[in-house]
Amino acid sequence: MKLKPVANHTITLRSPRELKIMREAGRIVARTVREVVAAMRPGMSTRDLDLIAARSFRRQGARSTALGYFGYPGHICVSVNSQVVHGIPGPLKIKDGDLVKFDVAASYNGYVGDTTLTAVVGGKPTPEQVRLMRVAYEALMAGIGQARAGNRLSDIGHAIQTYVERNGLVVVKEFVGHGVGRSMHEAPQVSHWGPPGKGPVLKPGMVLAIEPQVNLGSAEVQMLPDGWTAVTLDGNLSAHYEHTVAITENGPWILTEL
Ligand code: MF3
Ligand code: CO
Ligand code: CO
Repeated sequence: MKLKPVANHTITLRSPRELKIMREAGRIVARTVREVVAAMRPGMSTRDLDLIAARSFRRQGARSTALGYFGYPGHICVSVNSQVVHGIPGPLKIKDGDLVKFDVAASYNGYVGDTTLTAVVGGKPTPEQVRLMRVAYEALMAGIGQARAGNRLSDIGHAIQTYVERNGLVVVKEFVGHGVGRSMHEAPQVSHWGPPGKGPVLKPGMVLAIEPQVNLGSAEVQMLPDGWTAVTLDGNLSAHYEHTVAITENGPWILTEL
């Protein structure tokens, strides 16, 4: 989501009973995003892929939290190549070699799961695409590694930025992760960059969506006139991974794993 000033900074702690439901919601979106990746073929439109997600949600008894969000018209976000986030499903046809990000969020029994995968259409990703995807995914995992009780919130973003820059790539600064619960976007905002040791102390029961976007070229982004789609300013590729993660006594619990 877009970094913005917020009125309510209270971070809701989720009970073990709530976390069990959130794990189910997480598993549902994990399945859906994999179904969409598996179905993706050259020549399909991003709207075709959106409808596959819609059917997957329906079959699993879940509801898209993107559809109707501030008027958003898709069930999921599909962002291609230089599109960074919030690509609106439409007539755009994907082709062999395109790098596609699927951001999938849904609610189930009143709780939300939010996850994103990046995948390449067709046969063979280029070495550059492989490197971009690997660094972005590993950066997410480095951030998740800091999602521990007793750490501070900004330790997550610091680990992500450090990992990305050590590997010669850049992290997008305009978008943040977020708390997840009954709503898709709750407090706190989770920066993917910055100094360590700042912000609230992490506590068991907090649930965070961590979702770095990593660029091959410049980190700068710009909005398309549709009011949703963010693209890289230099037209270079961007990758995006996201997990919903619970802080527990025993370390991070990735709710959006299969
Ligand atoms: N799932 C996205 C996130 O990670 C938000 C999608 S909002 C939409 O925060 F309206 F663009 F769908
Ligand atoms: Co998301
Ligand atoms: Co999110």
